[in-house]
Amino acid sequence: MALYKLNVNGKEQSVEAMDDMPLLWVLRDLLNLTGSKYGCGVGACGACTVLVDGEETRSCLMPVSELGNKKIVTIEGLSKDGNHPLQKAWVEHDVPQCGYCQAGQIMAAASLLTKKPKPTDADIDEVMGGHICRCGTYQRIREAIHLAAQGAK
Ligand code: FES
Ligand code: FES
Repeated sequence: MALYKLNVNGKEQSVEAMDDMPLLWVLRDLLNLTGSKYGCGVGACGACTVLVDGEETRSCLMPVSELGNKKIVTIEGLSKDGNHPLQKAWVEHDVPQCGYCQAGQIMAAASLLTKKPKPTDADIDEVMGGHICRCGTYQRIREAIHLAAQGAK
């Protein structure tokens, strides 16, 4: 076990963890940030996606020992009160069904919009294609990303 200081959602957090503990378990089990979900544990579904220095990152594959001073943002820290353009667009389009995949979907979309503020369908499909939704909300996700892009700065 070692002590790690992490920057999570703008706050310094100290956790004691094994070097190879995935960030997902640090978030969920040690910091009680349970918005990021466990789907596959092997990087194949995207349910665990968070931002690490702005890049969409599969937290199930990211050992705590590799994070250093990087800034981690989870769905809980995306906005203060759920007013990120993506969150508003998600509500507007009534995107989620069971909801399990949606935190990961939104965080991936957030990363996309910082790089491409006005993404095309192809841009969206390229980034979001690796995010599995067993409820099949893909079309509404795409529409919501376009709507958020209209409202994004
Ligand atoms: S739980 Fe991380 S990609 Fe599926
Ligand atoms: S909303 Fe159910 S898995 Fe995506």
